Parts: sequence; structure tokens; C-alpha cells
Amino acid sequence: MKHQELECELSLVVDQLQPSEVSILDLGCGDAWLIERVFRDRLVSRFIGIDLSEPALDKADDRLKPLGWDVELLHGNYEEVLPALESNSINFLLASYSMHHFSDSETKQRILNECRRILTEEGVMVLVDIYCREKESREDYMLRFDDFAKREYTVLEPDDFEIVMEHINGYDFPESLSMLGSMAERAGFRSSTCLFSDDFHAFLRLDGVTSVS
Ligand SMILES: C[S@@+](CC[C@H](N)C(=O)[O-])C[C@H]1O[C@@H](n2cnc3c(N)ncnc32)[C@H](O)[C@@H]1O
Repeated sequence: MKHQELECELSLVVDQLQPSEVSILDLGCGDAWLIERVFRDRLVSRFIGIDLSEPALDKADDRLKPLGWDVELLHGNYEEVLPALESNSINFLLASYSMHHFSDSETKQRILNECRRILTEEGVMVLVDIYCREKESREDYMLRFDDFAKREYTVLEPDDFEIVMEHINGYDFPESLSMLGSMAERAGFRSSTCLFSDDFHAFLRLDGVTSVS
């Protein structure tokens, strides 16, 4: 999913948020480029970003400071940070390309349970991530991705290509869309809808108890 597609899709969801003043939690926020692009002209009462990377959080701080929001940037593993966050306190939650780094589905389920607890009843979570096909093993996913990458990443030097593929082989653990949907249901989300997908990426909207669309 290209950056522009992601920004457009996210803006469409955010346009439907109620109330119009938003409290945001971003899991694996990186340098917060996406949040800044989509929310810079909106009313944001609070932003909490969590990331493992301190340099990324420093960049997020620089990027968000001019907006004058109440910003809290937390350095750490969000699996460990989430239990300390207040229930029913956030009305927009984003996890963009970070959840697939958890290697087991039990951890992802626990994280989604926490997200549901923290989200207000009318809140919305957006989960953007890589995904595998139904019944596709991780090994088959990797072979399919390797095939795709060899065709698409032609600008990379062979050594750089190897580094990218090693990272993906070591750290990417995609779930199928049906699995993500079941996890969302088990966590107590009212609904989960896939609003965009291509061969590898999906954009899911998970609604709290009350749907606002
Ligand atoms: C591929 S980047 C995506 C960044 C941003 N969300 C985006 O869509 O552009 C993944 C980010 O998630 C962070 N991350 C991965 N696992 C994490 C974890 N368990 N806890 C906190 N941050 C994590 C990484 O440090 C990195 O900044």
C-alpha cells in the first residue's frame, strides 16, 4: 500500500469520527508522519505514540511540536505499555505496519483485547498491515514475497536486497484476514471491515461497541 493510498484511506475513516475532537493512540508510531499528514488540520485533544525506536520518537517530537497538541511519546514495547493505559480513554487507535512483528497470535490477541479496552465505545481502530492468504503457511508467504520482491525491488543492489529479505524472513509474521477478523471479534470489537487490500497489504477498520459510519 503506497503512502498516498494509506493517507487517503485513513482520511476517509477519520472524516467519520465522532466526536470531531480526537484522542489518538498510535502503536509503533515511528516518526508519526502519517498522523501528522492526516490530523494536522483537525482538533486533537491528545496524542500518545509508542515506539521501540528512540531516534524515531525524536523525529516524531520534532514533527508534532509545531502543532501544539498534548503529545506523549512513550519509548518501549507497546505490548508492555498498553496495560497501563486508561480504559475508555482513546477514540482513535492506529497500528500501522507494527503488529506483524509479534511472532505469535496469542500476543496479537492480547494486544487487540487491550486496544478494545482502551478505546471508547464509539471509537475506531485502524489496523494496517501485511497479511497472508487463507491457509498460506509463513514459509509459502515468504516464497511468494521473495518472488514479488525480485520482480519489484530491481533498484536494490544484491547486498541490500539480501538485507531486506533477511529482515522480512526474521521479523515478519503475517496473519490471514479471517484470522485478524476473528481476533477482533474475540476482543469485543463490534465489527471489522477490510477497506483496502492488495496482494500483501490490508487496511482494516475495527469499530468499538457503537458503529459511527
Ligand atoms: C514499519 S514501521 C511503521 C511506522 C509507522 N507506523 C508507519 O506506518 O509509517 C514499524 C514501527 O513499529 C515499531 N515497532 C515494532 N514493534 C514494536 C513494538 N513491539 N513496540 C513498539 N514499537 C514497535 C518500529 O520501531 C517501527 O518504528
